[in-house]
Amino acid sequence: MSKVMVFTHPLIQHKLSILRDEKTSVKEFRELISEIAQLMCYEATRDLPLEEVKVQTPVAEATCHRIAGKKLAIVPILRAGLGMVDGMVAMMPNVKVGHIGLFRDPETLAPVKYYYKMPPDITERDVIIVDPMLATGGSAIAAATFLKEEGVKNIKLMCIIAAPEGVAAMQKVHPDVDIFAAAEDDHLNEHGYIVPGLGDAGDRIFGTK
Ligand code: PRP
Ligand code: URA
Repeated sequence: MSKVMVFTHPLIQHKLSILRDEKTSVKEFRELISEIAQLMCYEATRDLPLEEVKVQTPVAEATCHRIAGKKLAIVPILRAGLGMVDGMVAMMPNVKVGHIGLFRDPETLAPVKYYYKMPPDITERDVIIVDPMLATGGSAIAAATFLKEEGVKNIKLMCIIAAPEGVAAMQKVHPDVDIFAAAEDDHLNEHGYIVPGLGDAGDRIFGTK
C-alpha cells in the first residue's frame, strides 16, 4: 500500500491557511500555490539518492554529495497543476515537464482528457504528478494510468489538499503511488468539491470565476 504523507511544516500550514481564505486575491493565490509547491518539493525529494564527489575549495579538498543523476520529470494536470510548476522548477532547474490536460465532466465528475505531451525519454524518468486538488481521485488516477500505459514505472503524486475519498480511490487503483499532501480534508460535498477545501483551484489561479 502506498504511503500518504501530510506535510505539517509550520510554513506550509501558515501559507495554506491564507490560500483557503475566500478573500485571498488571484495574485496572492498564485504566489502561495507556487511557494507551497516549492516547500513540498523540498520534502518530497528527501529520498533522492546522493553520490559522493570531491570538490576543491579555495582551502582544501572537500568530500561533498550530489544528486546521483536521478532522472526526474514533473507532470502537472492542467489547468490547476500548472500553478505548482514554477515553485518546483525553482528547486530543480533542469527538471523536465510533461503535461496532461484533464477536466472533470460537471455532471459525472469523470475526467475528460484533452492534452497529453511528455518528454521523449519519459519512460526512463521518475515522475511526480502535480495537481493542487485530489477530490474524487478521478483525474490523478487517470494521469497515473496514462503514464503507466506508456511505461513509466515510478510515480508519486503531489497535491495540496486531498480528500479522504480521493486518497482511498488512488490507493485502490495505484497502490504503488505515494501521495504527498499539505492537508487531508474532511469530505467531498454533493458537487465533488473538497470540504472545507479552497474552492475551484483552477478558477482561483486563473481568475476565471
Ligand atoms: C480540478 C483539479 C483536479 C481535479 C480534481 O480540475 O485541479 O485536476 O479537479 O478532482 P478529481 O480528483 O475529482 O478528479 P478541474 O477538472 O476543475 O479542471 P481545471 O483545473 O481545468 O479547472
Ligand atoms: N477541484 C477543485 O478545484 N476543487 C475541489 O474542491 C474539487 C475539485
